[in-house]
Amino acid sequence: MSGTRERRLNMAPAPSSTSSDITLNINGEKRTLPVDHRTTLLDALRERLDLTGTKKGCDQGQCGACTVLLDGRRTVSCLQLAVAAEGREITTVEGLAEGDRLHPVQQAFLDLDGYQCGYCTPGQICSAIAVIEEHAAGWPSAVTDDVRPEAGPPPLSAEEIRERMSGNLCRCGAYVSIVQAVAQAAEAKTEEAAA
Ligand code: FES
Ligand code: FES
Repeated sequence: MSGTRERRLNMAPAPSSTSSDITLNINGEKRTLPVDHRTTLLDALRERLDLTGTKKGCDQGQCGACTVLLDGRRTVSCLQLAVAAEGREITTVEGLAEGDRLHPVQQAFLDLDGYQCGYCTPGQICSAIAVIEEHAAGWPSAVTDDVRPEAGPPPLSAEEIRERMSGNLCRCGAYVSIVQAVAQAAEAKTEEAAA
């Protein structure tokens, strides 16, 4: 080996560590775990923390089964690195009910049979919670006719719900009931706010 090449090899930086201890704030509880930096939030939840309510469908951001709330916003956890979720507030389907009292969106899915096999349901419910918040905050969707801020939120019609929930697929085709459940939960929230 030439002296120059040997010097270059000696100067090469040591390989950086590929894992770290992280603390995730999940459903109001802090959980510390070592993770490989490539671990997705979905795998950390399911495989490391035994929070299997969040489902893996496609594992590539296309089905919505893995949807969780991150700082109140919906995100597909299969495309989110666990290390990047540190310090943020993560809510999974396990964290929605208050004791024996289901979250109103969970209750609406139950009341209106918004599922068949139930595999997509945790993602549908987390997404629906965010949809209702996004709509109440005046966010338009691709089917909103009047997107001027002064027009205010459009009515949360079936068309609006279908569009806003379009990232969540249901292989059982329970869409009709899912749309009804989201509409009922949104209505209940509006009534509660007005009371
Ligand atoms: S499993 Fe994440 S979007 Fe399908
Ligand atoms: S209820 Fe079976 S996939 Fe949606």
